[in-house]
Amino acid sequence: MKTAEIRQRFLDFFARNGHEIVPSSSLVPHNDPTLLFTNAGMNQFKETFLGQEKRDYQRATTSQRCVRAGGKHNDLENVGYTARHHTFFEMLGNFSFGDYFKQDAIRFAWSFLTEELGLPAEKLLVTVYAEDDDAFDLWHKDIGVPAERIIRIGDNKGERYASDNFWQMGDTGPCGPCTEVFYDHGPEIWGGPPGTAEEDGDRFIEIWNVVFMQYNRQPDGTMEPLPAPSVDTGMGLERLAAILQGVHANYEIDLFRNLMRAVASVTGAAEQDSPSLRVVADHIRSCAFLITDGVLPSNEGRGYVLRRIIRRAVRHGNKLGASGPFFHQLVQPLVEEMGEAYPELTQARPQVERVLLQEEEQFARTLDHGMRLLEEAIADLDGKVIPGQTIFTLYDTYGFPVDLTGDIARERDLELDIEGFETAMEKQRAQARQASNFGMDLSALADLDAETHFAGYDLLSVSGTVEKILIDGKPVDALDAGQSGIVILDETAFYAESGGQVGDTGQIRGDLTVFDVEDCQKQGRAHLHFGTVSEGRLQVGDQVGSFVDSQRRHLTALHHSATHLLHAALRKVLGEHVQQKGSLVTDERLRFDFAHFEAVTPAQVRAIEELVNQQILTNVPVQTEIMPIEEAKAKGAIALFGEKYDDEVRVLTMGTDDFSVELCGGTHVRRTGDIGLFKVVSEQGISAGVRRIEAVVGPRALALVDRVSDQLNELSQVVKARPEQLVEKTEALVRRQRELEKEVERLQSKLAAQAGGDLAAQAEMVGQVKLVAARVEVADAKAMRELVDQLKNKLGSGLVLVAAELNGKVQLAAGVTRDLTGSYRAGDLVNAAAAVVGGKGGGKPDLAMAGGKDVAKIDEAIAAARNWVAAQAA
Ligand code: ALA
Repeated sequence: MKTAEIRQRFLDFFARNGHEIVPSSSLVPHNDPTLLFTNAGMNQFKETFLGQEKRDYQRATTSQRCVRAGGKHNDLENVGYTARHHTFFEMLGNFSFGDYFKQDAIRFAWSFLTEELGLPAEKLLVTVYAEDDDAFDLWHKDIGVPAERIIRIGDNKGERYASDNFWQMGDTGPCGPCTEVFYDHGPEIWGGPPGTAEEDGDRFIEIWNVVFMQYNRQPDGTMEPLPAPSVDTGMGLERLAAILQGVHANYEIDLFRNLMRAVASVTGAAEQDSPSLRVVADHIRSCAFLITDGVLPSNEGRGYVLRRIIRRAVRHGNKLGASGPFFHQLVQPLVEEMGEAYPELTQARPQVERVLLQEEEQFARTLDHGMRLLEEAIADLDGKVIPGQTIFTLYDTYGFPVDLTGDIARERDLELDIEGFETAMEKQRAQARQASNFGMDLSALADLDAETHFAGYDLLSVSGTVEKILIDGKPVDALDAGQSGIVILDETAFYAESGGQVGDTGQIRGDLTVFDVEDCQKQGRAHLHFGTVSEGRLQVGDQVGSFVDSQRRHLTALHHSATHLLHAALRKVLGEHVQQKGSLVTDERLRFDFAHFEAVTPAQVRAIEELVNQQILTNVPVQTEIMPIEEAKAKGAIALFGEKYDDEVRVLTMGTDDFSVELCGGTHVRRTGDIGLFKVVSEQGISAGVRRIEAVVGPRALALVDRVSDQLNELSQVVKARPEQLVEKTEALVRRQRELEKEVERLQSKLAAQAGGDLAAQAEMVGQVKLVAARVEVADAKAMRELVDQLKNKLGSGLVLVAAELNGKVQLAAGVTRDLTGSYRAGDLVNAAAAVVGGKGGGKPDLAMAGGKDVAKIDEAIAAARNWVAAQAA
């Protein structure tokens, strides 16, 4: 059975059993800073399990793309060398949100494996959490699995609930006991059943994990029951395919065989079973999907992990024999294998290829650079050991792989200080861990059970009740005048920062109380008002009004609506590949980052501005509708990559002929005309493949126009021309300036020639040779050299030494006519003088230059030169 068929059979089986087929979510987890990449099917349902989000189904099934590289589960270095480690894999799952529990979960799993797929029951064994008698009984009595094939696993990882059979999403969040199904690949493969010393062998392979989600683990370790017991399961598609295709290693399944054939063909690999083939085949999957999901190679966070995977793939490709960029050529073969199940991959193909090619080319340059650095380090080496810090710098700063440094060391009979390298690495890891605690840790407040209703789409003030007050994250009863904290209301007019739009500011007021709100942020469903009490005392339970700073909100809305028009205009002018990479909307300006591979030309910027301003001038009403996500997609609404949406979404439509249709929770203008005017302030590249536009609208745009026009007026006065003649006038000025500079140069050399003539006339005879030794004035070193040449010409035969003060230092030049260079060298002559003023020089036998510091000794230096000539002549 082909991999694609297994995937479909799974989804169909659960759809038949009342499950909603939900698309895989992006690999970039939405709103979860604790998670680097999506690593399990349940990630997208985290809030549903916690009861913070309602869906209109209670059963779901997915085929979820997952990446385990970097972060908690890091398998990168193993990939390619074992039967079943991957950076990317697909997890098949079925989920119950407070609907069925243990019994049905176990029945579904058994029925799918043994009936739908026909796996022999005697090849399967199961594990349960040691304390979970219910699960044991269900397997034994309900399903009929013999007791000796049901293994109880307790807390085998050193702590309460730390067990192979207790699954936790992370240090906090949904968790519960689990039961796992194992497949026995047969006695010819080494390994023992779970719970034995040989369990790490490859004979008994876990294929399905069924988690009974029961608790929400708190930061202090306590287990709070979930609102409703639920089910989360995960089955590795590749492992299942291996079983059904009668092979042992995941890399032998159809999908990987086809990919590895493509790898061999693009790299020209001679060897047919090199681990490198597996590495490249694995890595093209994670890289292509990460880029599809909006990650770009960079030097930090997710982008850095992507870069490392690409580079590892390139290294292994080179080992296989590739001599130029090859990795990007594997996107098409991957699309053939997986494009049907993941249409977003097919759509992103050109972009993925471009990113990969660019990264491959850059890495080739990096390798060149690294080689040079390593050569230098080796040349400077005292002993036979390349220091750990050097290996680390090469690796970390230049992306130069450690194994390559090792290869080169071996060739030169050198060793690596691996210990020193590890120390440097550990130091860096510690820094990275620290850096990942994003500013204030709102997730520490994750268990806030407060919920705020947002009335601010229609109102700028509304009354409400103080539900909670927090100081430093801890609940308190009241805030006194002068105290700062977080206030949560049941109802508010304050917009909490999201979708790039900043949170509102303003005041929360009671009868005798004023709380000045400096910012508003969201946590779960609660709006957190950050601020300080300026009058009276604010208490939990108080009836208050929330009053938004309406001017700031208004200006922010103008910029937000303009951002939508800009996004649509960018796609029209530059192409549909333009993808939002970031956005900031304030009352002062908007900033929009997007994926695009070239600079945007001034003509394109103008076209974008014009399109947006046209839509503003049509002044059509902005429409807001709530609709099911499917309907919104059918309408062509732009959704953000990696953003997670509820089933019901808010859709904003703006401009003529649905110019912009976008999913958005922000606050907007009533009609496009409210925006007034849109002006781009700047356009620039901010990282590989990402551009940034900053713009202003409304009063801010008018202020910009005023400023520019003031500057033009001032300029007109300075250059004495009417504004419409400014360009012509300025061009004329620049031209005139260039003419004058040339004229000055001509006059200077004329002057120098005259001076040269005068000087030549002063030539003295020292012994048999003519010598000019004099102090002169020149504009620069070049003029001095010219002067020496002229003097030599005038003398016909003779020596010249001139000295000048130039920018507070001494400048010396010496010349010797050709007939005399056998007896006098210009370099010696100039150094005879230079030594006196603390300098040294050099040049050719007939012309030499030198500098010096001691300006007071110039005359002495000239005398020294004269003496030197006299000494030579004698
Ligand atoms: N969430 C469970 C896992 O990842 C099913 O194993």
